[in-house]
Amino acid sequence: MRIDILTIFPEMFQGPFTESIIKRAVAKGLTEIHIHNIRDFAINKHKNVDDYVYGGKAGMVMMVQPIADCILQLTQEREYDEVIFLTPDGELLNQSISNQLSLKKNIILLCGHYKGIDERIREHFITREISIGDYVLSGGELAAAVLADSIIRLIPGVLSDETSALSDSFQDGLLSPPVYTRPADYNGWKVPNVLLSGNEKEIINWNYTKSVERTKQRRPDLLDDK
Ligand code: ADE
Repeated sequence: MRIDILTIFPEMFQGPFTESIIKRAVAKGLTEIHIHNIRDFAINKHKNVDDYVYGGKAGMVMMVQPIADCILQLTQEREYDEVIFLTPDGELLNQSISNQLSLKKNIILLCGHYKGIDERIREHFITREISIGDYVLSGGELAAAVLADSIIRLIPGVLSDETSALSDSFQDGLLSPPVYTRPADYNGWKVPNVLLSGNEKEIINWNYTKSVERTKQRRPDLLDDK
């Protein structure tokens, strides 16, 4: 899978993609991440990528031309399944959206800034708009990193044990059960006996019961959706 990220702050992606699972996914050739600096497509001598908003309200808006030229260059090179704009007024990201997107071949993620992007970009290029939560970030970069991470870990072969993605919270509409590791007794704080029993069926039942219990307590809305 190929992900192209369009941003005016390319350095912001140094951290999230150069560690851990994502780093290994790139090294294994399971994903390619290409970061494009929108400013490289600005044609005026000051390399401006934003301008005053029409209609008198305060704030700057990202201009059509540099973003349009960047998207057009990419879409001339290959076909894209989705051109996604990260924005607080988009559809709320959830595991099902990440699952869908992990099956795509090529996607573009566009990061906005300032008061937003010129609406004509949204009308003519954007196929999907995604928000990572009901709060406003300084820009779309962190949201794009969150989205890319949640997608990439679902690409087959990225996680060493594929079942570990299947047992993630939300994957089956439930939160994950509690987990423990050695020692079985830490100063009197004991791991539940059933997990030490070796009885696979009982362990599966216990995990399921705890998942449902935790979901009821913390996220009853997830059960309503069923
Ligand atoms: N840009 C600014 N805030 C955002 C959010 N919550 N989700 C996605 N993109 C954003």
